[in-house]
Amino acid sequence: MSDLLNRRRNHGRRFGISIKAVINHKIVLRGYRQQDWQERMSELTIFFAGDPHGAFDPMIEAVLEHRPDALVILGDLDLERPLDEVLASILGITQVYWIPGNHDGDRDEWHDHLFGAGLADRNLHGRVVQIGNTLRIAGLGGVFRRKVWYPRENADTRGWPTKKEWLHAMGKGNRWRGGLPRKHRVSIFPEDFEVLRRNRADILVTHEAPTCHPHGFIAIDELARSLGARWVVHGHHHTDYEAEIVPDIRVLGVGLTGVTTLDGRRIRPGMPSTRSAKRYADAHVRRGRV
Ligand SMILES: [Fe+2]
Repeated sequence: MSDLLNRRRNHGRRFGISIKAVINHKIVLRGYRQQDWQERMSELTIFFAGDPHGAFDPMIEAVLEHRPDALVILGDLDLERPLDEVLASILGITQVYWIPGNHDGDRDEWHDHLFGAGLADRNLHGRVVQIGNTLRIAGLGGVFRRKVWYPRENADTRGWPTKKEWLHAMGKGNRWRGGLPRKHRVSIFPEDFEVLRRNRADILVTHEAPTCHPHGFIAIDELARSLGARWVVHGHHHTDYEAEIVPDIRVLGVGLTGVTTLDGRRIRPGMPSTRSAKRYADAHVRRGRV
């Protein structure tokens, strides 16, 4: 062991550096990156909205009150009207982005009001978008499904690597509007993941959770690491929580209809159940607010 240490010391001396200097350099570099990242974060306020399931007033009220630079919706919108109509009152105030959730493929109208609405180009799934001068957000919407891809820690099952391959093998009777079944328009394919992992981003937003959640997936951890992301923000599980997956990657779960910021401020705490969110939405409809 001491031989190895001496060899390393001699190797360092040959290049005019010591082990201590290398360690100090790494600490300084890490400190610099942390500071650089925090400065980039502080230039913007971004709100992350947990699954609305049809109840949009909590996020609308939060935006009207605080006027953030951007709002990112984390899937399962369950839209009864087109998204640009539902959010019309805040479109001049903030930049709206979204990823789809599993339920956004449950009904024709929910699908069309999201993917065919005026804000269709704000879909972050499978791409990285720069917000402000330097901050980069990557999106992975939808869910893992056994028929397509199910990457658990001990069993990474891949049914179809690409949409094209599956479509080619699929009978015409199983297609929806000539393409993938509607349900699988919001399934995660390995090809979506591969495209993303070649990028760099500061924040990864997902519908599925990473492994810090009991129902999380190792693939989300891996994607965050590949992207060099410092944050993972996700919906789907209807729980407000904070965790870490590896040192320096912080995770924020955002609850049902909840609105939160990257520094963990719960602008609107998540609701306890979809029933309470529905009641909230219905009460606002009755009062003519939606
Ligand atoms: Fe979901």
